[in-house]
Amino acid sequence: MKLLNRRDFLRFASISGALLLTELTPLNLLQSAYAQKSKEINLTANLTNVDLGNGKPFIAWTYNGQIPGPEIRVKEGERLHVFLKNKLPEETTVHWHGLPVPNVMDGVPYVTQKPIQPGGTFVYEFEASPPGTYIYHSHAHYQLDRGLYGVLIVEPKREERGYDREYVLLLEDWATVDGGGPEASKRGRIQPLMGMMGMMGMMRRGAGGPLQEPLYDAYTINGRVFEASLPFKVKKGDKVRLRIANPSSSTIYTLRIAGHPVTITHADGRPVLPVTVDAVRIGMGERYDVEFIANNPGRWHIYNIRDNSPTSGWLLGTLLYNGITSKNYNADTITTVYKISDYSILEGIDERFFKPVTSVNKAFRVNLSGGMMSPYWTMNGRVYPDSDDISIKQGDRVRIEYFNMSMMAHPMHLHGHFFEVVGTGRVTGVRIKKDTLIIPPHMGRGAVEFIADNPGVWFHHCHNLYHMEAGMANLVKIFS
Ligand code: C2O
Ligand code: CU
Repeated sequence: MKLLNRRDFLRFASISGALLLTELTPLNLLQSAYAQKSKEINLTANLTNVDLGNGKPFIAWTYNGQIPGPEIRVKEGERLHVFLKNKLPEETTVHWHGLPVPNVMDGVPYVTQKPIQPGGTFVYEFEASPPGTYIYHSHAHYQLDRGLYGVLIVEPKREERGYDREYVLLLEDWATVDGGGPEASKRGRIQPLMGMMGMMGMMRRGAGGPLQEPLYDAYTINGRVFEASLPFKVKKGDKVRLRIANPSSSTIYTLRIAGHPVTITHADGRPVLPVTVDAVRIGMGERYDVEFIANNPGRWHIYNIRDNSPTSGWLLGTLLYNGITSKNYNADTITTVYKISDYSILEGIDERFFKPVTSVNKAFRVNLSGGMMSPYWTMNGRVYPDSDDISIKQGDRVRIEYFNMSMMAHPMHLHGHFFEVVGTGRVTGVRIKKDTLIIPPHMGRGAVEFIADNPGVWFHHCHNLYHMEAGMANLVKIFS
């Protein structure tokens, strides 16, 4: 029988009510309650020949031979045991993106664990809480872009918003050479310049430098390009929930379902006051749960809006009503005037899991730059692991302000915590809980606050995989 560690015990105790630490006798009872609720998952990471449906098969890196990896769906409070087998030619780890797991289970190589060597196994073990839509993915090298990702859904004990049908939409960008990674990036590999950052990087990584984003040639929902996609089927009158997640390595989507505005109900798993939009902007690492009523029968495109123009997008999938036999797609009902989701129109709902951050006692500024004269991307002018740590104490109420001096957007992600977004662009007074926040380019800003309640050394980085690997990361150290 497993012993509860102190943190688990405290969590469990606070969930089950006013248990005091001095009342330790019921521990055995608590343990057996845990054992009954534990769930085992087996993941094998290996190389698999895949075809996204565009007739260009390639060798992807997969969990259990499939793209995306198997859906992991558990109930809030369940204890997960994930057995990971590494059959890849290199070391790997799995990260539970968004879920505040204990530090040693967070899956960041050389930060929270020794990576799992080829042929090796590792058991990840944590409690699935709070409920929400999450992503699991490799956190080693460029493996995420090669296909090592899947969705992790924690269902609430009691579903507060009923629905008739639910679909998961995982959006992914591909270079159909090796998914995206060293092969795909060959043409894009840039030599470091001899500037300051270049010198620093060359000493650290050797010549060659980090990879540039590949030239993607395929975009998929759930591993299939539009031409090979399976329609999402609905019945007239259905209330439909979509869990949209973006495990792409460097694509921000503006997702639109022709003929259907959608209502955002959750951002990064956290509930928000429902807001209806025509399209959902979703950065790498972000998740949105949305709902709509199927009240517009037909065959409709699901597509990505490019350059703010609904008529110039790229097609991703199909929404199809039962009984529709015509192969023709209905024309979208919007042309130019439409509402895209934006953090400033979202408002969080209070939850029993979270205390709001009141009176910040530590504040940090993070300047994001790079990409101009150098292949490196920086935080406060430095490249990870030479970047400055953010060192704080457990219980600190922390504020991080981001300034984006570069010409690209950066979805910033903090491990182990949800933060409250308190500012975005030039808008202040926002209050939504998230774990990933896009900082817009060209002097764009963002501010987040969180309570440092999960001790350990946590990774904090841009979720553009190529920016992360090129240095835009640091450590948030929370001492207990
Ligand atoms: Cu989803 Cu550190 O990442
Ligand atoms: Cu970035």
